[in-house]
Amino acid sequence: MPGYLNLILLALSAGATDWEWPASAEVCGRCHRAIHEAWKESAHARAMESRLFQDALELAEQAGGAPARRLCLGCHSPVGVRVGDLGLRLKVSWEGITCDYCHSVREVNLADGNPRVRVEFGPVKSGTLKEASPVAHGTEYSEVHRTALICAPCHEYRNSLGFAVLTTFSEWKVSPAAASGSACQACHMARVAGDVVDPKIQRASHTGVNLHSMPGSHSLEQLSRAIGARLLTSRDGGQLKVIVELTNRAAGHKVPTGSPLRQLRLQVEVEGYDGRRYTEQRTYGRVTVDARGKTLGLEHEVFLRGVRDVSDTRLLAGEKRQEQFSFAVPPGLQATLKASLTYYYSPMARDERQQKVTFLQLRQLVK
Ligand code: HEC
Ligand code: HEC
Ligand code: HEC
Ligand code: HEC
Ligand code: HEC
Repeated sequence: MPGYLNLILLALSAGATDWEWPASAEVCGRCHRAIHEAWKESAHARAMESRLFQDALELAEQAGGAPARRLCLGCHSPVGVRVGDLGLRLKVSWEGITCDYCHSVREVNLADGNPRVRVEFGPVKSGTLKEASPVAHGTEYSEVHRTALICAPCHEYRNSLGFAVLTTFSEWKVSPAAASGSACQACHMARVAGDVVDPKIQRASHTGVNLHSMPGSHSLEQLSRAIGARLLTSRDGGQLKVIVELTNRAAGHKVPTGSPLRQLRLQVEVEGYDGRRYTEQRTYGRVTVDARGKTLGLEHEVFLRGVRDVSDTRLLAGEKRQEQFSFAVPPGLQATLKASLTYYYSPMARDERQQKVTFLQLRQLVK
């Protein structure tokens, strides 16, 4: 097809000539259909609209006024803050971490304090395709998009009291994954089949796309992959000894990572054939306190008032940990041993699905 015809078709089909920057994901989705579909499923797309976040934002504003609102929106509506739309009047501000934010990032600087980002909204999109030559917009090759730097500005954060609230990026830096050259994208943006651009609009220079749904702890698959578990039992007189061996085998950071309120809980349960039941729990997570030593239990509190962790029992990347339990099950009595792992998202969750998910269950018969 001659080039000019191509151009006309584009202008008709995508209205590519009259965009405003930053553009809504809907605009990008007209051509980048597969990527748009996947992104819509992501936590990024919901980061602003999420009820959970809205509730937390309201509390943050009550506690810290306009500066707190600005802080929260900085990561949950990065476009809103950059274009001065703190009142969220534009649709694109409601799109959370939207296409045109990430693809307008030009530089990320880690030199001092929190990561700093240079963003240029306009007709040029930055990315990792070297030979891309779209008609609709300009492109600029960006090394930043290949590395963990693109994720760092929101997944690493120290508050004004000097407390490191989010440390996923620095946890990753010291992980085996980082040592072997795997960035966040290796696990969260796998290459999958799909068209970079709707083939009806333009033939892309590449096949396959990077998965933009960026699955994390809301993906059962990711959670199950992350943690390996094994049960070992032995007898010690009147005691049944149980060891649960947990391995953080596939996360490139601690589990859980991110918000200090995320928790992983191991529950071990023994039910003897005489009907007696024993349960024990272990929790993996952080306990964050304010300047007076009060334990903080809500997201806006840890962001605004957190000063330190008094404990951190999370599983390091690659770590194998053995938990020992002892139950008074008499010898010779059969019993069922069960172990389960549950991931807790947020104390502010309104329903069960928003609150937690049990992703692993082991069961064994013992004598
Ligand atoms: C009219 C169709 C069209 C629209 C609308 C469109 N793009 Fe593209 N885009 C393309 C084409 C075609 C390519 C080239 C693909 C290739 O060559 O493989 C491309 C490439 C890209 C690349 C890869 C650049 C690189 O160098 O790695 C990025 C990133 C991108 N677009 C982002 C966006 C964003 C963000 C939006 C919305 C603000 C958008 N695009 C809207 C057609 C479009
Ligand atoms: C959180 C940041 C982020 C968001 C949001 C995001 N992208 Fe991307 N995108 C990336 C990164 C990083 C890559 C490159 C991944 C790599 O090469 O490892 C990429 C790659 C691309 C590419 C090149 C083809 C590919 O799959 O590698 C296109 C086109 C693209 N994105 C378009 C979009 C569109 C359209 C949206 C919104 C529907 C979007 N992106 C949202 C970070 C983002
Ligand atoms: C502009 C800020 C921003 C950038 C840049 C960003 N993220 Fe996020 N990310 C967020 C926010 C905010 C959330 C939480 C959304 C929510 O649940 O409300 C999140 C959530 C996530 C989750 C959790 C998904 C789940 O299942 O809950 C993963 C995984 C993730 N991001 C990976 C990445 C990766 C990988 C990159 C880099 C390619 C990246 N993010 C870049 C802000 C960002
Ligand atoms: C080696 C693979 C791997 C690498 C590298 C990796 N992750 Fe993950 N990530 C996972 C797995 C598996 C999970 C699911 C387990 C969990 O939620 O802790 C996860 C979970 C997450 C979550 C969800 C936590 C939450 O609170 O909801 C976020 C956010 C995240 N990763 C961000 C990142 C960022 C940012 C990077 C790079 C700095 C990164 N990851 C590097 C494998 C990886
Ligand atoms: C530096 C970036 C950043 C800032 C600033 C920020 N957040 Fe977040 N927020 C995130 C990321 C990233 C996550 C995703 C999950 C994780 O890593 O645990 C998240 C997750 C959350 C969640 C849990 C959402 C879920 O789906 O479980 C809530 C609630 C929340 N943030 C509220 C707030 C509030 C309120 C503020 C302001 C006081 C704030 N955030 C400021 C980056 C940020």
